[in-house]
Amino acid sequence: MPLPSRALDPAPPDPILGLAEAFRADPRESKVNLAVGVFVDETGRTPVLPSVLTAERRVLEAGASRTYLPIEGRPGYRDAVRTLLFAPGHEAVTSGRAATAQTPGGTGALRVAADFLLQTGGPRTVWLSQPTWPNHQQLFRLAGMAVRTYPYLDATGRRLDADAMLGELRDAAPGDVVVLHGSCHNPTGVDPDVSTWHEIAEVAAERSLLPIVDFAYQGFGDGIADDAASIGVLAGAGLEFLVCSSFSKNFALYAERVGALTIVAQDAARADAALTHVRIAIRSNYSNPPAHGAQIVETILCDPALRADWEVEVAGMRSRIRGNRGAFVDALGAAGLPGEWEPLRGQRGMFALLGLGAERVERLRREFGVYMVGAGRVNVAGLTQENLPRVVESLAAVLAS
Ligand code: LMR
Repeated sequence: MPLPSRALDPAPPDPILGLAEAFRADPRESKVNLAVGVFVDETGRTPVLPSVLTAERRVLEAGASRTYLPIEGRPGYRDAVRTLLFAPGHEAVTSGRAATAQTPGGTGALRVAADFLLQTGGPRTVWLSQPTWPNHQQLFRLAGMAVRTYPYLDATGRRLDADAMLGELRDAAPGDVVVLHGSCHNPTGVDPDVSTWHEIAEVAAERSLLPIVDFAYQGFGDGIADDAASIGVLAGAGLEFLVCSSFSKNFALYAERVGALTIVAQDAARADAALTHVRIAIRSNYSNPPAHGAQIVETILCDPALRADWEVEVAGMRSRIRGNRGAFVDALGAAGLPGEWEPLRGQRGMFALLGLGAERVERLRREFGVYMVGAGRVNVAGLTQENLPRVVESLAAVLAS
């Protein structure tokens, strides 16, 4: 049998990782990478966190066997993940109604979540914010879900339109899945405040929706515990929901693919039963998770001193991102660029959405070697004192036309 004819028609490059390849291939020395969501320091490097190096040394010295992990991952790691999601002593943990499986990154968690839901509940509709991380669309569609969108930003493109968001979600059907960004919304940097999270939880409860919380930037917004306020609100509202954690960013373990899927159910029996189906979703896909990155995360989270070091390192990344936001807004204002930039200063996480439109983004890349995603998503961490003037000049040029 020949390959399907569609397989011979090359697919477009990935809207984010494809840009990373294009950037690597770009010979211009002046190029600036503000595309893929990877933290970089002032020298443009993605550092390995000192806590990670210490933990890795310990893991290697311990010389543990490389036999298969359990399908749902390392028990100590699974417990440790819950200490990041919930305040100490939280009843969702003590009652056993939060069950965690280790997954390869946050993307792996999302795909396992989708497979688990389809496997156990038949066809489903999933609601995504408009805009959202581009991979959400294809991930849920290819898993077999029907994708719908709910509005997210107001007409300025700088603030949440909570009424529009909640109004649309009130039209969702019972059993529909709604993807929420736990903190540091990707690509907008615009998060609901705690009172809006309560309203979201109310609508989800009223309409019997099942939230999937995509939680890839914990600690990059207001702090590790503060960023988990969204999870606390959903748990407090008595909802059942799923959390997809990624430790790519906050542990800078991108290439190790470390993540987790946590099922928060009404009680421990329901959570445990659901986990048995998650095991099938995992076993039929990649069998069982890779060990190394999860061992590092577990080692850090389970050693109070190392955990404290890591929290300081996360705070350092957060503060660089915040400083960059301020410097960016100041520079845009000083250059007199047309547009409302001030709200970007108070947004959260790595991303700011400039709302430039695809043509201007393309011009920035082609003419100036400044790489952004989609309609102008900027990885704020990628700005440096050296490249900032060039980025602002390039923006001035494309905004002038
Ligand atoms: C991003 O949005 O740039 C990151 O989450 C990396 C990715 O996998 O797309």
